[in-house]
Amino acid sequence: MPLVCVCSPKGGVGKTTLTANLAYSLARGGSKVLAIDFDVQNALRLHFGVPLSDARGFVAKSAENPDWSQSVLTTGGNIFVLPYGDVTEDQRVAFEDNLAHDPQFLARGLNTLLNYPGLVIIADFPPGPGPALKAMAALADLHVVVMLADTASVSLLPQIENHRMIGGELNHRAGHYFVLNQSDSRRNISRDVTAFMEQRLGDKLLGVVHRDESVAEANASQQSIFDFSPVSAAAFDIELVGKKVSSLLNIKVGTGEFHGQIKNW
Ligand SMILES: Nc1ncnc2c1ncn2[C@@H]1O[C@H](COP(=O)(O)OP(=O)(O)O)[C@@H](O)[C@H]1O
Ligand SMILES: [Mg+2]
Repeated sequence: MPLVCVCSPKGGVGKTTLTANLAYSLARGGSKVLAIDFDVQNALRLHFGVPLSDARGFVAKSAENPDWSQSVLTTGGNIFVLPYGDVTEDQRVAFEDNLAHDPQFLARGLNTLLNYPGLVIIADFPPGPGPALKAMAALADLHVVVMLADTASVSLLPQIENHRMIGGELNHRAGHYFVLNQSDSRRNISRDVTAFMEQRLGDKLLGVVHRDESVAEANASQQSIFDFSPVSAAAFDIELVGKKVSSLLNIKVGTGEFHGQIKNW
């Protein structure tokens, strides 16, 4: 039932990596998790062992097949994946057109999944604003905005704070929180930006994730950071973010049960 969106004004900041590893973290806590990809890059599935050659996804037939749950893939564990899929340019444009102009399109597509008892949904988005992120405002419970520990990210903060991402609040439930990714304490600028963001964002900062080579290596081997390098700095950091997300969604850790009420801190 609860729906978490992972987004950012910037590309290449670690949205897909964090979506996948947060899905793993929530599943480790006992939840049944569905990871949905709204990015035409179609890369999220690769984090769950779906082969590069597998072209399946929900977007190509999203208009004719109004129940997108039929395109969900199982991964063997407590995690399910709804890949974007390989699409033609016409199919991508038609999907975005439906998202932008049919106010019920997204709710209809996700209806079965949103009503699946106890299922936690985590969705990955392309960088910047877009029709999917905009349509999500009516359905999402929580947004996790990923930023880097660099000056470009600092300059983009007003975009979020002044509602310039989608022209309004990202959601009307628990609100939006930030994760600062690829923080590197060996670099002065990264240390300074991390300290600035911690001070500026306060409780809105769910966590800081260290730049850690094992993240890229885990990605390359299609494994979660928890399986690939359980004692790494990034595994520790992401686990902590996962716990905060669980707490915001009021998921009882250990049982994975969702208790109806979304916290609004
Ligand atoms: N904490 C981290 N430490 C080191 N590399 C990272 C970290 N987070 C992400 N990366 C790497 O950064 C690149 C971009 O990540 P990705 O998740 O694809 O970003 P996005 O989805 O925002 O475009 C990938 O090569 C990924 O392995
Ligand atoms: Mg991505």
